[in-house]
Amino acid sequence: MTTTGAKPQPLAIHGGKPVRATLLPYGRQSVSEGDIQAVVDVLRSDWLTTGPKVAEFEEIFAARVSSKYAVSFSSGTAALHAAAYTAGLKPGDEAITSPMTFAATANCVLYQGATPVFADVTPDTLNLDPEDMERRITPNTRAVLPVDYAGHPADLDAIRKISADRGLVVIEDACHALGARYRGKSVGSLVDMTVFSFHPVKHITTGEGGMVLTDNPDFAETLRRFRNHGISSEARQRQSRGQWHYEMVLLGFNYRLPDIVCALGIEQLKKLEGNLTRRGEIAARYTAAFCEIPSVIVPTVRTGVDPAWHLYPVRFDLGKLTTDRAQIFRALRAENIGVNVHYIPVHLHPYYRGQFGHRDGECPVAEAAYERLISLPMFHGMTDVDVGDVVQAVSKVISSYAK
Ligand SMILES: Cc1ncc(COP(=O)(O)O)c(C=O)c1O
Repeated sequence: MTTTGAKPQPLAIHGGKPVRATLLPYGRQSVSEGDIQAVVDVLRSDWLTTGPKVAEFEEIFAARVSSKYAVSFSSGTAALHAAAYTAGLKPGDEAITSPMTFAATANCVLYQGATPVFADVTPDTLNLDPEDMERRITPNTRAVLPVDYAGHPADLDAIRKISADRGLVVIEDACHALGARYRGKSVGSLVDMTVFSFHPVKHITTGEGGMVLTDNPDFAETLRRFRNHGISSEARQRQSRGQWHYEMVLLGFNYRLPDIVCALGIEQLKKLEGNLTRRGEIAARYTAAFCEIPSVIVPTVRTGVDPAWHLYPVRFDLGKLTTDRAQIFRALRAENIGVNVHYIPVHLHPYYRGQFGHRDGECPVAEAAYERLISLPMFHGMTDVDVGDVVQAVSKVISSYAK
């Protein structure tokens, strides 16, 4: 590919000058002075762990995603574990998920002693393919865990239909998709349980943190107990009622999100709309620039979907290039662009191969995509100069490897 008639610049990986002097990370949090002050105020208050800020954060979060109940957790992974428990997963059960995700989505099934089953993804969005999901249903299937890869909601209409027909619980891993909309409705209000993460690279952060959303009051009650050792009431409730008596009714964990960071979450949530807008602008600029390069395949956005742009993953048409993804990755890093890869298909991790005998070829679409994927920097604090640097570096590297 030739973008201009100018002489190609030597790549940084070959000793040329990098596009940037310092590394641009692929994701980064934005924390304001107001956020810091809110945390400091809690440190001076009576409640550091489960206090008024937890309830406030849960309430405004539930309202933001149009769901009845929000239950906070110490991480997205803990939230997934609680959802898997609440769905009733147990040894002998199977739960179907996508391999194009972070390992935690499948690990939460293992925590319950159940078996994760991987169904392939569709080539456009790299989200769970409902047809392949249906093929992999057995009499032991109890739940499905679609993932909103990169912030693009999964094919929820089809997944909900199949699940309703078969009596399966749907747990949506929306750790990438806070603020996304699907057919006009907020992600968080669409399935039995929806899970979000507040890891620093996400749309809002509490450092570590997660949330499960549900409209089912029984699920909400179980989720609250599960995060609190399986105990039926919280210390603050007992104190306000002047009671000491409590009962442990199920085997839970300490998965509580402290008041200290819920105060941060409340402040961060106020900035969500701005963060989503900025991420959308960055995605639009990338798409406009890269759809001009024939060997770069930009992410698809399906009709009726408003994605949340957690990641901006591009795929390379390797037939049009003289090199592979690994070399492009190294070349972009040398230009000081902090690219990443999302994801190694989960079933191909050594643990999953070793424990369950998974092999290459089980999910061909996900595996082929993995060989061609690179995630470009995407975070709401990126400046226009940062975005321009990424566009310049990708164009420089790809033109140097074009056939
Ligand atoms: C798709 C997906 N699921 C689950 C998780 C786990 O969330 P956490 O890091 O908050 O435990 C992540 C994490 O980043 C994720 O990207």
